[in-house]
Amino acid sequence: MNAPAAPDLNRLPLGSDRIPDDVFARMRRENLARWPTGAGVDFEAAVARHQSLPRHKQLGWVMREAARLGRCLTQPRGGFGTFEMHRHLMVTLDREGHADVVPTTTDSYTRNEHWELAQKGIEESEQAGRSMLNGYPIVNYGVARAAELIDAIDKPAIMLTGTAMPRLTGEISYAAGYSGYLGSGIAYTTSYTKELSIEDGIRNYQYLDRLVAMYQDRGIDLHRRQPGFLTGTNIPPSIAIVTAVLDCLLAAAQGVKNYGLEMGETYHLVQDAAAVAACREVCQDYLRRYGHTDVFTPITLLHWMGAWPQDEAQCAALVAYGGTLAAIAGANSVTTKSTHEAFGIPTPEANAAGLRTTRMAVYLARDIRLDGLQSFKDEKGLIEREARAILDRTLEMGDGDVAVGTVRAFEAGVLDIPWSPSRYCKSRVMPARDADGFLRIVDPGLMPFPKDVMEIHEEKLKRRAEKEGIPFGHELAVASVFEMAEPVAKLLPDRWMR
Ligand code: 5AD
Repeated sequence: MNAPAAPDLNRLPLGSDRIPDDVFARMRRENLARWPTGAGVDFEAAVARHQSLPRHKQLGWVMREAARLGRCLTQPRGGFGTFEMHRHLMVTLDREGHADVVPTTTDSYTRNEHWELAQKGIEESEQAGRSMLNGYPIVNYGVARAAELIDAIDKPAIMLTGTAMPRLTGEISYAAGYSGYLGSGIAYTTSYTKELSIEDGIRNYQYLDRLVAMYQDRGIDLHRRQPGFLTGTNIPPSIAIVTAVLDCLLAAAQGVKNYGLEMGETYHLVQDAAAVAACREVCQDYLRRYGHTDVFTPITLLHWMGAWPQDEAQCAALVAYGGTLAAIAGANSVTTKSTHEAFGIPTPEANAAGLRTTRMAVYLARDIRLDGLQSFKDEKGLIEREARAILDRTLEMGDGDVAVGTVRAFEAGVLDIPWSPSRYCKSRVMPARDADGFLRIVDPGLMPFPKDVMEIHEEKLKRRAEKEGIPFGHELAVASVFEMAEPVAKLLPDRWMR
């Protein structure tokens, strides 16, 4: 007979409370023992390392300055499979791309904590002389090499790991001098995993946020960031905002003070500007309700997260317009793509060019704001009402506890994400673009949007369905998914006059 499994002494009941010091110390010891490079993490040395970095290489400070000065910073994504290739990429993005923030995207094996396979990928990349991994395997290379990457650039660096399992990449990167980490329990568990429970995803990020709070207690203002783009394509702003606010409340409860919120751009100028304004207000409002009055929540917009056209000229328009939208929306930063997006991982040069194109577009639009426009005000009001309805019901379901409410709300379909791979998410909600180009909700599933709000969505979507001869319903959602990837001649025919 099998012996009963040993109870996990570190597994507290699910809740939002800050993890106690002694429990967290045990959790850290176990976590760092999972791979040999974990031994390279020395918290006291890490604190000293961050203290020694100039302010302009600390993302926490840089984001605060961007907000203070009203700047929209540019940041790409990027990662290659060997140290040398990745260092060259980071230096190119810094010097040739003028990136304000330099990224390290990890490879898929690292994201899934398959470090043996990442090791093979490193060796194969060395042999082939080109990257056989889709990112940088930071855990295999460890703290000292990661610190060399930070030393090679003159900007702050952020980790982009697309994972619901951030505990070891988080420890190693922050210890090396990375000052930002993108990811969150609700967003990444519902975006990138099938079998991991939302509870476990939340727990994994509570660990990371608790770690960041430990640095904060020593005066190190590290940046954390929530990826509200979710499953990429066609996420209505209110759904992105709901997950951003819940993830932010979870982080704030662990003691995080510098927490960015991201949203994928809808590519509707008015809707994106309204989304940024609504996100700012709603997030700060809910933070206040939970007694957090000192959490800084800058906003990042992202170049189109759906499918891109296979035409570099068309891609160039998406890159430039994405910068324009972010600047006019008053986003604090924009995450860029390149004209290679439809074809695979960009070369360092193409990635740097995407940054410069975006930067120029941001410059051109820097003084334009839509705040006085009626359609902006209407849209902002609509997004806020949608987000608040879902947030209020979720928090009620947890009797005020954010973590418990989130898990229960997903079970009930009150919280829902379109096209999620997670089996813990119903994915009954369906978005589509309306006759005026706004992203709307064609089917709310079980999400409790106010009735009059849904009537507005339905009326606008029906107008599009009629205009284009598509039946109102799921077909409308599907027709909206591939829109941006269509050839320009189909979107705007050149024989329109005959
Ligand atoms: N290098 C550059 N960009 C990357 N992305 C993902 N991995 C890399 C990488 N190694 C970008 C792609 C993708 C987005 C989610 O992240 O643009 O669409």
